[in-house]
Amino acid sequence: MGAKLIKIASVYFVVGVFFGMFMSITHQFQFASVHAHINLVGWVSLALAGFVYHVFPKAASSLLGKIHFWLHNIGLPIMMIGLIFLLSGMQAAEPVVAVGGSLTALAVVLFTINVLKNVSEAKDQSITHNKTTSL
Ligand code: HEM
Ligand code: HEM
Repeated sequence: MGAKLIKIASVYFVVGVFFGMFMSITHQFQFASVHAHINLVGWVSLALAGFVYHVFPKAASSLLGKIHFWLHNIGLPIMMIGLIFLLSGMQAAEPVVAVGGSLTALAVVLFTINVLKNVSEAKDQSITHNKTTSL
């Protein structure tokens, strides 16, 4: 799951950067928060989560990890698409942003619980494996 998240994150990266260029070229700076969240909640946060899951496979294989994966990947696009419409002046999109944002926030809560429960320096984690292979 770690590699999958890193791949998804890199797609957010390219979308976020091109969104930034689109904003700069067209001077539509009202969309800055869409750009900021695609980059920070899409690229940065998902890539970090991907690395956490790669280093701590116990967290990746847990039910919390799987639910986090799906909620984050469903909630964020809903929030971003809703926000584009909202910032374009369509007030009716506000509940869409609220639903997407809430799903993403819930995903983050589950990720945190997962990290607190399943990330440890136990000997059975892959860190030990990495240490031995790098010697
Ligand atoms: C070529 C790449 C990028 C371009 C052309 C670009 C362009 C922009 C532009 C035009 C703004 C709006 C500034 C304003 O409203 O005054 C902005 C804001 C922002 N960008 Fe980017 N950006 C790029 C990459 C990134 C990346 C990689 C990240 C994060 C990982 C990022 C994070 C942000 C954030 C957080 C804001 C909001 C800042 C604020 O509210 O003051 N940007 N960017
Ligand atoms: C579900 C999670 C999140 C929700 C619902 C949320 C919501 C918001 C809202 C409502 C704003 C104000 C936007 C505006 O003034 O136009 C904002 C701004 C901002 N948020 Fe978030 N946020 C979330 C997660 C995050 C995370 C995880 C980060 C960083 C890693 C972040 C970074 C920022 C930044 C840099 C700004 C200022 C960007 C700007 O100029 O619009 N947010 N966020």
